[in-house]
Amino acid sequence: MAGGPSTPELARAVSEAGGLGMIAGALLTPEGFAAQVDSIRGVTFGVNLFLPEEPSGADVQSYAQHLAPWFERFDIEPGELVRRDDYYAEKFAWLLAHPVPMVSSTFATFDADEVARLHAVGTEVWATVATASDASVATANGVDALVVQGPEAGGHRGTFDGSAPEQPLTELLAAVREISELPRVAAGGLMDGNDIVPLLDSGAAHAAQFGTAFLNTPEAGTKPIHRQQLTLASDTAVTRAFSGRPARGLVNDFMRENSAVAPAAFPDLHYLTAPLRAKAAAIGDPSALSMWAGTGHRRVQAMPAAELIAEWARQLGR
Ligand SMILES: Cc1cc2nc3c(=O)[nH]c(=O)nc-3n(C[C@H](O)[C@H](O)[C@H](O)COP(=O)(O)O)c2cc1C
Repeated sequence: MAGGPSTPELARAVSEAGGLGMIAGALLTPEGFAAQVDSIRGVTFGVNLFLPEEPSGADVQSYAQHLAPWFERFDIEPGELVRRDDYYAEKFAWLLAHPVPMVSSTFATFDADEVARLHAVGTEVWATVATASDASVATANGVDALVVQGPEAGGHRGTFDGSAPEQPLTELLAAVREISELPRVAAGGLMDGNDIVPLLDSGAAHAAQFGTAFLNTPEAGTKPIHRQQLTLASDTAVTRAFSGRPARGLVNDFMRENSAVAPAAFPDLHYLTAPLRAKAAAIGDPSALSMWAGTGHRRVQAMPAAELIAEWARQLGR
């Protein structure tokens, strides 16, 4: 969970409790990335990367002008694009030189050559997919497992083409099963062990990925106002307004006012709105902060990650 909620402490707690903790490798500098990954060595863990994309050519300037009243209200300047590619080449090269147990991709899949190079250093490769067509590309490229992300999921939709398909998780899992024999990790709207029993028992999925359920653990870096709103906000929606890519979060005024006009331009909009989001978080104003969360947000529990996982294991009976 890039952008603050994921921490090495959370990943370590999850791995030590029998899960597979993830380092969110996106939106970090190469130095910050290396430090986070090195701080968790000793347990089995994974690292997630956002794969870069070409500029969409969308009119970012007009959107910046449209947002002027927001920048004025919060007394800040619009943000500048820092790195379009999220230092992808540097991070990938570092992972080859300093291998980790697993690497997963989001927004695209590693190509066949990248998969081979990761395999050569002993790293397992997973791909986040949000459509059956994403799954067939990733499977053809030789990845080892698919994180099948339904539209219920909090945060960015992992679709390769930046669209926001709405095939519910159970239907998506069935569609992916038709075209790929790879293990499926179900993601989206799952909040406890009871939610995953039917997916595992029916063979729909082999494992499950949780995001929102960890947002109010003490180990997470979730901002206080985001934690508070998880149970106060009544709904979530998918928006491009904050980052330029569709992502699910708690509905607030910024989303209501700007979702209809926000262009598809990631990460341009992410950087454009960064100072606004930072100021909103600093002053505890939920109206202009991106508060990513899945459809199960109201069932979030304030509990250490190890206790959550122990509870889910009891529910699963295993
Ligand atoms: C705050 C937040 C940040 C996220 N950041 C990432 C990310 O950096 N990379 C990624 O692949 N998925 C990210 N996701 C999506 C999760 O990996 C996962 O698919 C999703 O949380 C599952 O749905 P759930 O939130 O309903 O549990 C994020 C989700 C949230 C809630």
